[in-house]
Amino acid sequence: MNVARTQQGAGGDPIAFVDLRRQYAELAPAIDAAVGRVLQTGAFILGDEVARFEASFAAYCGTKHCIGVASGLDALALILKGLGLGADDEVILPANTFIATALAVSQTGATPVLVDHDPHTYNIDPARVRPAITRRTRAILPVHLYGRPADMLQIQRIASEYGLIVVEDACQAHGATSRDHRCGSLARAAAFSFYPGKNLGAAGDAGAVVTDDDELADRIRLARNYGSRVKYRHDAQGGNSRLDNLQAAILNVKLPHLDRWNDRRRAIAQAYRTGLAKLPLVLPEEGPESRHVYHLFVIRCEARDALATHLKDHGIDTGIHYPVPIHRQPAYATGCIPLRPLTYSEMFADHLLSLPMHPHMTMREVDRVIAAVRGFYGAAGTLREATVPVESVTPSFRSGESAEVAEPAGTSTRR
Ligand SMILES: Cc1ncc(COP(=O)(O)O)c(C=O)c1O
Repeated sequence: MNVARTQQGAGGDPIAFVDLRRQYAELAPAIDAAVGRVLQTGAFILGDEVARFEASFAAYCGTKHCIGVASGLDALALILKGLGLGADDEVILPANTFIATALAVSQTGATPVLVDHDPHTYNIDPARVRPAITRRTRAILPVHLYGRPADMLQIQRIASEYGLIVVEDACQAHGATSRDHRCGSLARAAAFSFYPGKNLGAAGDAGAVVTDDDELADRIRLARNYGSRVKYRHDAQGGNSRLDNLQAAILNVKLPHLDRWNDRRRAIAQAYRTGLAKLPLVLPEEGPESRHVYHLFVIRCEARDALATHLKDHGIDTGIHYPVPIHRQPAYATGCIPLRPLTYSEMFADHLLSLPMHPHMTMREVDRVIAAVRGFYGAAGTLREATVPVESVTPSFRSGESAEVAEPAGTSTRR
């Protein structure tokens, strides 16, 4: 490996996976002023910036309530606890997600039931949800993975048939829409993360719950603040999971830019799609009647690790989302129910690669990423010939093909 190229990157400066310094540079005067304002008031816990952000973000999502909390994980756990989930319950979620989705379920004492995703959308496959339902099932927890809305119509249909609650994990889908409704407004409640690298990110950990449910909102407001509405009076045994006033001040500056930043992400995705067409890799698809916001631009390919190394040698950072499905994590050696077959979750983990994606990338950088990926395939012919063709390990990837997964005997229903 050429070390000089690794550090500098062939043909220019390194290309970061996400570059938050550029985002700050765009908004520095407004962010500095907002932070200064909070510091001068000395109001750090909850406070006026939190109230203002909650009102703005609820309006943005099209929900009645927004409750600012400390993280996306807390948002999910507070929703599930607020809905009364507990030890005897099961919650159905996809096996390919960030571990927080499952951890939130486990925190309530309930059991995560992991199902496979659709190979085209990467989102929970509604056809796999039905066989996962038992008498203990209380909720379905779809994740709008990578910024693409899950098939909420089908999920809601199944949920109403079986009397189940649906909660959205919208931690990667700020501003995404499904049939003109924003993610966050598509179920009983939704959780958002404002982890710094998200489409809408704070300068530290932060999150929010959005919902139309007055009682749930009230329970979560109590639960995030020691069970207290009035200082030193505690109506419930709550915890401490508040959104900081400082973080809310920063989010208030950034929220008005979210749609423009998402447009930019979509333009970058389109450039990638055009530039990477006709290579032996699978590109993310756009769903009908939904707006993908490309929190991540995830491709699927053979020789994933060799491609990542090649890009690194050209100064280009990549990521993997996710290298290990939940049921194969040591943390879930026990304590979850993997509903097999988990064909795609298991097969894709070795083939997924996330390319640099953030709204402050220049088109020159996008072109450099495209050229480097194309160069890999131009220069790595022998390498590719030595591996199995992409179609053979990814049987029904291609757009328009159906993705039927054969169901082994005995797993067709758990009810
Ligand atoms: C799908 C998903 N769910 C939940 C979370 C948890 O959010 P946080 O990191 O703010 O706790 C994340 C964040 O990375 C996520 O991507």
